[in-house]
Amino acid sequence: MTRQHLLDVDSLGHDGIVELLELSDSFVEVSQRAVPKVPALTGKTVVSLFFEDSTRTRLSFETAAKRLSADTMTFSVGTSSVKKGESIRDTVLTIEAMGIDAVVVRHGSAGVPHQISRWIDASIINGGDGWHAHPTQALLDCYTIRTRLDRRGERPFDGLHIAIVGDIKHSRVARSDVLAFTALGARVTLVAPGTLLPPSLAGWPVEVAHRLDDVLGDIDVAYMLRMQLERQEQALVPSLREYTSVFGLTPARAARLSKEALIMHPGPMNRGVEIGAEVADDERSVITAQVANGVAVRMAVLFRLLGSGK
Ligand code: NCD
Repeated sequence: MTRQHLLDVDSLGHDGIVELLELSDSFVEVSQRAVPKVPALTGKTVVSLFFEDSTRTRLSFETAAKRLSADTMTFSVGTSSVKKGESIRDTVLTIEAMGIDAVVVRHGSAGVPHQISRWIDASIINGGDGWHAHPTQALLDCYTIRTRLDRRGERPFDGLHIAIVGDIKHSRVARSDVLAFTALGARVTLVAPGTLLPPSLAGWPVEVAHRLDDVLGDIDVAYMLRMQLERQEQALVPSLREYTSVFGLTPARAARLSKEALIMHPGPMNRGVEIGAEVADDERSVITAQVANGVAVRMAVLFRLLGSGK
């Protein structure tokens, strides 16, 4: 972890990821207690600064902070002075002046959390920036695979084959997951039409397939992505029905996945588009486990950044 921030997966590297996954185990245990709360961050204040819509990420961070006994503040752009023309810099300097320890930032533009980390002294955690990165999503995805498939050790994902399917081009989740999964040793195949892949994959440690049917029999994890229609400027697929017919995890395709395979999705899901309505509830689906693990993983991140007596 670069100093006291978590801005992307690259800066964590293999060792940083494994350390946080191990730390998450103890917070899963806390989350299962009758009173799921520890005093680790008493007196610390964690702010969520969300310039973009979110349900699970914001609630997950706020729950994590509360379970560590931190105070929380929520900033929503819709009801703030940003609407009156205040710049991001003035907004964060104002928030900092109230005395805070960490800021979870989500913004529609890549690089904003990084920029904010240069302006203020608090720890900055990237809660998703543009198409760039979503490091805590990658950590909770790794944690879910590790616990469900019982993968531990030095290179826990050695020999695992993970397909990430769908709108890779606009997905910060895909970028962070590729980095994290491959750092732990997995083989990753991106499955998407050419229009939904980044213009260049040079340097990406991945394989590419253009039909989900080509990889179904061979994968341990089917990681389905939402079609990010709000981030697309033009129609990149002929129609959603056409997309589903080639890339959707329909019941017929789910039947061809191995019995031990995991079905994953970062949410929010479009049931019936990228994932069949009933497939999301299949016994191999770990989609709600991803959400539950997200709280423990974010507790680990907050504890690691703020809990060591700084
Ligand atoms: C994702 C996001 O916002 O990047 N959701 C999430 O954080 N769980 C994916 C998405 O929006 O499709």
